Parts: sequence; structure tokens; C-alpha cells
Amino acid sequence: DGYVVAVVGATGAVGQTMLEILAERKFPISDLIPVASSRSAGSSIEYMGKEYIVQDLETFDPAGVDIALFSAGGDTSRVHAPRFAAAGCYVVDNSSAWRMDENVCLVVPEVNPHALEMARENKIIANPNCSTIQMVVALKPLHDAVPIERVVVSTYQAVSGAGGKAMDELAKQTGQLLNAQSADVNVFPARIAFNVIPHIDVFMEDGYTKEERKMMDETRKILESDIAVTATTVRVPVFYGHSESVNITFDGPMNAEKARTILSDAEGICVVDDPAGEDYPMPSEAAGTDPVWVGRIRDDNSCANSLHLWVVADNVRKGAALNAVQIAEILISQS
Ligand code: A2P
Repeated sequence: DGYVVAVVGATGAVGQTMLEILAERKFPISDLIPVASSRSAGSSIEYMGKEYIVQDLETFDPAGVDIALFSAGGDTSRVHAPRFAAAGCYVVDNSSAWRMDENVCLVVPEVNPHALEMARENKIIANPNCSTIQMVVALKPLHDAVPIERVVVSTYQAVSGAGGKAMDELAKQTGQLLNAQSADVNVFPARIAFNVIPHIDVFMEDGYTKEERKMMDETRKILESDIAVTATTVRVPVFYGHSESVNITFDGPMNAEKARTILSDAEGICVVDDPAGEDYPMPSEAAGTDPVWVGRIRDDNSCANSLHLWVVADNVRKGAALNAVQIAEILISQS
């Protein structure tokens, strides 16, 4: 026994990791249904040593599905998540489609599990943006100790956040450039190999990108606070693992020593912060792991009650697939 679980986008970068994490964590599944577009419908994928046939989302009937984990893009979620919800199925949606909808909760299990209450009725739960998730895991325990006034964040985001084709593009361009060929640019707005691109998602009228806007709006919604947040989001030639430089100003006494103690005790966080031993979090080490890694914890000498943190996590795991599976685990523990 167990639950009927559909993974929508099962052939994608996040969907594949969702399957791995469901298996790793022994999620109680009675039937697994991989779903994707008509392009891959009919092909088979493996889950815990068994083959499953990929279903076409357009024609798939969600009746009988208990939980669907969606990671197939915003347009797909906008159309199909309500259809699954209407059939009585919980939808944990990794796209940005529903995140800021006031009737939909936006959940990070370590931060605001209570928000899931709202999903009892409308059945759709939004998984936050990958960069937002790892940042709020680090902010929450500090904010509980001393309210945060303002956050300034700059990100160094891996290409896996843009999906499988984006990872192929970094690999291909790297090969092309090392072989003195010109790089084919298809997925990203500019060459990503041996480069850094300060542009993720589309530009908006105020000069911010939508990725930056997501970090600012989602952080406030998740922390249920109107703290000031400003972000610069940047793509770097790394396959897995987002890094963030986070500068925080508090509304009262806070310092690095106090923050280090709080973060060391916090759920879902590993502190690695030993300048003498040249030890600090890096994507090369965070990739494939579950925690949010925090280091370079230091007082901001330019401003009272202010800190710097360096925050790294596997963007496909904690930033997407793992967070979604953790949400599903809470849903079944309450049912
Ligand atoms: P498919 O493999 O059939 O194209 P990634 O983020 O790695 O690019 O993966 C995107 C995932 O979302 C894939 O599983 C892809 O399926 C799926 N997908 C994309 N568009 C649709 C759609 N219109 N309907 C269903 N699944 C989709």
C-alpha cells in the first residue's frame, strides 16, 4: 500500500531528481505514474528497478492520483494543475505559475510548514524559486531571533536551474571553446561557458529581472513579513549548486558569533566556516547533498547589526525536487 503518485515532467532535470529522491526516502508509493509531453509519451523510465511507461499530460486522466509533483514549466502548470486539483489530487508545483496567488501557499518545510493548512481546500501547493528556498532556510532562524530589516542578495546560479538543455549547452560550449571553435548559443541569452551572465528570466520595466523579483516577493510571502529585499541574480558556468552572497541588516543586536550559534542549531543547515582551514561551502561539495550550507559568516563592518553570509545548496535537490518531496511527506503525515 501507499499513495498513487504522478511526476509531471518526469523526463526533465528536476523530474528525474524527484524520482531519485522519492526512492531514496522510501516514499510510500502504491503506483507511480510518470507524465510528460507527447514528445516522450510511450517511452519508459525506471523507478526502483521497475519500468514505467510515460503518459501524455494532454490526455492523462488524474482521477485516482493522490499526489502529483509538477515540474514541467509554468504554462503547463497553469493549465493542468487545476485539472488535477479538481480531481481531488494534491499538486506540489515547482513552477512560478501559482507562487504569488493569494489562495495558494508557498512552502519551505523548515520555514513555514503551517502554511500548508491552506492547501486542504484548493489542493495546490507552490514550491518556491530555487534561490529563494536556500536563502529563506538560512534567514528564518536568524529572523526568529532578531527581526530582519533588510536583505541584499547576489546569486551565482548553476545552469541546471534552467533544465536539461541548459546543462547540455554549457557542456557543448565548453568543448567548442577548448577546441578553438565558436560557441553555439541557444538556451541562454549569451555564451555561458567561461562567462557570467547577469540576466536570469526576463527583464521587467523597473530594470530588475523576473528571477530577482521572485526572490524579493517570495521571501516576503514565506517569512510573512514585509522586510526589504533586493537581489541581483547571475548565471555562472557551474552545473549543480547555487551560491549566494547574502547581506542582512537586523532590527536589533546581532553579530557573527550569535548568528553562527543560531545557524549551527537550525534545521536543514550545515555550517562550514573555518577560514583558518580554508573551509567554506562550495557548489562542488554541495552538489548531490540535501542541506543548505552556510559559511563566511562575518560582521558587516560598514553597518550596525549587519552580517554577511555565503549560502550554497544543490538547486535541483533542496531548490526543487527535495523541497517538493518534503512537502508531500508532510501532506501524507497529516492525512
Ligand atoms: P518532455 O521530455 O516530454 O519534453 P527540463 O526542465 O529538464 O527542460 O524538463 C522539462 C520537463 O517538462 C520534461 O519532462 C518535459 O517533457 C516536460 N514538459 C515540457 N513541456 C511540457 C508540456 N507541454 N506538457 C507536458 N510536459 C512537458
